[in-house]
Formats: sequence, C-alpha cells, structure tokens
Amino acid sequence: MKKVLFVCLGNICRSPTAHGVFREIVARRGLSEQISIDSAGTAAYHIGNPPDHRSAACALQRGYDLSDLRARQAVTADFSQFDYILAMDAQNLSDLESICPSDYQGHLGLFLDFGSESVREVPDPYYGGPEGFDHVLDLVESASEGLLGHMVRDL
Ligand code: 4NP
Repeated sequence: MKKVLFVCLGNICRSPTAHGVFREIVARRGLSEQISIDSAGTAAYHIGNPPDHRSAACALQRGYDLSDLRARQAVTADFSQFDYILAMDAQNLSDLESICPSDYQGHLGLFLDFGSESVREVPDPYYGGPEGFDHVLDLVESASEGLLGHMVRDL
C-alpha cells in the first residue's frame, strides 16, 4: 500500500480537488486497495469544513464527488504515514519543509512536477472568478495521470 497526501493552504479548494480526482482515477484503474489518498491544509482556518462550494460544483461537473471530504491541517505525524506528500504551490512546499522531520524517507515535492505542462504551481482560485476553478481541475487531472503513471511502476 502506497499513501499519498495532497496539501494546499486551506484544504478546501486545490487539495480536495486533487484528492477527489486522484481517488477517482485510482478507482477506475482498480487500484484503490494499493493506493490510499488524503488531503490537508497548511493553515488551520477551515478545519472540519467541506470543500468550497465552487470547487465541489466544478469537480462534480466532471464526475468527481468531493462531498465526503472535510478539511484538516497537515501535521508532522503525516510524514510517518505518507509515501508522497505533494504541495500545490511553492509556499505550501516551504511550509511543509519547515515541519518535515530530517529523516523523512518519502517524496516531498510539488504535485505539478508529475504533470506534463511547464507550470509548476496550482494557482489559488479562492479569491478569483469561476474560470480559476476550471483551471485547477485541468492542472490536477493532468498531474494525476502523471502521478499514477509514476506510482504504478513503484507498487
Ligand atoms: P486552498 O484555497 O488553499 O486551495 O484550499 C484557499 C482557501 C481558503 C483560503 C485561502 C486559500 N483562505 O484564505 O481562507
């Protein structure tokens, strides 16, 4: 069993989108018993909240149900649980690095390093318009395929 944790700032927009999309493509490939998925935020603002309604609606339009997800904060103990800890942007990565134990053996990095596009960060859609949420989904779908392609070689 390999474990993946997606991390953004609030755990209500980008990382729940990644969580729901990756969970779905893993399920479609019949790999749910081999790959487990979670998401978290570096900040505590939204602990216990469901995904932002704009993220949830945008994801549902493409067939991804985020309704069971609830926000939690990333903690140091996550590093003893997860093989891959994937940040949505460089600030999230830097915040994770600041709580990462020095002996962490897993992969801590940017999620979009597994994508095929040149953009490396998933832009925060929270304060923008509806097109930002669709853009998040485009980037997340592409990087999810890349991540799964990488992980199946490693199962
Ligand atoms: P996320 O988006 O990090 O993709 O979940 C945000 C959600 C909430 C806030 C910022 C970003 N906020 O400032 O409350």
